[in-house]
This record gives sequence, structure tokens and C-alpha cells, in this order.
Amino acid sequence: MKVIYPGTFDPPTKGHLHIIERASHLFDEVIVAIGIDPEKKTSLKLEQRLQFLETLTKGMPNVTVSSFEGLLGQFAKEHRAQGILRSLRTFQDYEREKTFAEMNKTMTGLETLFLFPEGPYQSISSSLVRDIAKKGEPIAPFVPEAIASEVAETLRAIFRSDHSQ
Ligand code: COA
Repeated sequence: MKVIYPGTFDPPTKGHLHIIERASHLFDEVIVAIGIDPEKKTSLKLEQRLQFLETLTKGMPNVTVSSFEGLLGQFAKEHRAQGILRSLRTFQDYEREKTFAEMNKTMTGLETLFLFPEGPYQSISSSLVRDIAKKGEPIAPFVPEAIASEVAETLRAIFRSDHSQ
């Protein structure tokens, strides 16, 4: 089975990597796809997020990285994916994801499959990482080692340039 794991990945975290690794063992193919929403301002540029995900998935032959603009269901169909993969961390995630899953099912017939992040991964979020990095605190507990220092430097540089204007 081929699935799409969509997200904003601003930045990718240990929580995201934990889901990708598990998915790579469960499914034949996994497409990690960055959704581009022109209305949503991200801290990291698309190219940076793609590069970070490429680095993280280098040793996973059945995982590819991509991006899409527009409807997720349309992208999934174009890539002949049979399902959408999302993770459920909290009750708030459940409420939101239930709506997305139902809409995607109605619009395209695609099922959404869910994985629960284990233990410490449940409380990681990209916005938390952005806040910590911008304050100059270490993000290593939350971001995979392979990209942690580059993510930290990039986010700190963004924060400095935002404040110099
Ligand atoms: N580990 C760590 N963090 C996780 C996580 C995990 N396993 N799973 C989710 N998160 C966090 C993210 O870091 C992010 O945190 P933040 O809000 O603090 O930054 C948050 O959960 C939600 O982000 P994300 O998973 O990127 O979802 P999103 O709500 O931004 O949605 C898309 C992204 C691409 C899936 C969504 O915008 C989409 O489907 N777009 C296409 C448009 C479309 O088809 N619309 C109709 C669908 S109903």
C-alpha cells in the first residue's frame, strides 16, 4: 500500500521522524508531502524543509519527499496513493483530524489512517521548537540530530533579522 504523509514540517521534528520510520515499516511506499498554503506564513522556506526531510529519510528506500499546492486528495490521487497517513497526539488533534479525514473521504474516497506517537513524542510540536530556537535555547531534545544544528541556526537567523527591522 502507498500512503501520503502530509504536513507543514516547519521544522520537521523527532515526532515526525518517529511516524515516518514506523510508516516505512508498515507500508510499501510512503510519500512525505509538504503542503503549500499561500495563506500560511512559515518560518522555514519550502526548499529548506524539503532538504531537511531529504536528509532525514536518506536511509529509507521506500520513502520519498515531495510538496504540493492545492488539495491533498488531488495530490494523493495523482500519485496513486491508496491512503493518507496522519498522527494523533492529543484530543485537539482528534477533533481537527476527524473533520479533515471525513472531508477527504467525501471528496476523493481516500481513507485516512492514524498512528499514535509513542511517549515523549506526543508533546512535540513544530511551533514549540520554533519558539525554543528563537529564544536561543537548545532544540536537540525535539529535533533529529542530523538536522538539529542547521535548524537551530536557521531559525535564530530568522529571528534576528525579524527583530532588526
Ligand atoms: N510529531 C510532532 N508534531 C506533530 C506531529 C508529530 N507526529 N503530528 C503533527 N504535529 C504537529 C506539527 O508540528 C504542527 O505543529 P504546530 O501547529 O505547532 O506548528 C501541528 O501538529 C499541525 O501541523 P501539520 O501536521 O503540519 O498539519 P496542518 O494542520 O498544518 O495541515 C496539511 C497540513 C498539509 C495536512 C493540510 O494543510 C492540508 O491537508 N492541506 C491541503 C488542503 C486540503 O486538501 N484541504 C482539504 C482537506 S480537509
